[in-house]
Amino acid sequence: MVRKVKGIESGVYYYHPTNYALNLILKGDWQNSLAKACFAQMFIADAPLSIVITAEYERTTGKYGERGIRYVHMEAGHVGQNICLQAVALGLGNVPIGAFRDDEVPRVLNLPEERKPLYVFPIGYSG
Ligand SMILES: Cc1cc2nc3c(=O)[nH]c(=O)nc-3n(C[C@H](O)[C@H](O)[C@H](O)COP(=O)(O)O)c2cc1C
Repeated sequence: MVRKVKGIESGVYYYHPTNYALNLILKGDWQNSLAKACFAQMFIADAPLSIVITAEYERTTGKYGERGIRYVHMEAGHVGQNICLQAVALGLGNVPIGAFRDDEVPRVLNLPEERKPLYVFPIGYSG
């Protein structure tokens, strides 16, 4: 999700890992709605960019059974750590957000039913 970022229209984007592309799925500035869905942690509304890690559990449990749930969470941790490290490397601030409403975040992001939000990373210039 981006807002007021030079060179990219404000909106919600889906990162397509196979072709390294960002696909616009919803136009507009949704940071305020996202902040509210994160139990009104309103500093999120000020961030020009938030990355939301989502999971489609079936893609992993279909292969590894129940144990796949564990793998999904491990992988989300790895991705999240990389986001934190890259933000610091670019001189940007970020905060991992685990406190959010499981029903509200998918509504704000217009996620399909099977895609579950796990982790939110607002990123910006730290003051
Ligand atoms: C899984 C997880 C969820 C977190 N959720 C939130 C959150 O919802 N809101 C928040 O302000 N910080 C959240 N944090 C950030 C922590 O409060 C803390 O700022 C961060 O882990 C760095 O802590 P340290 O600087 O004391 O090491 C979360 C951290 C982790 C690891």
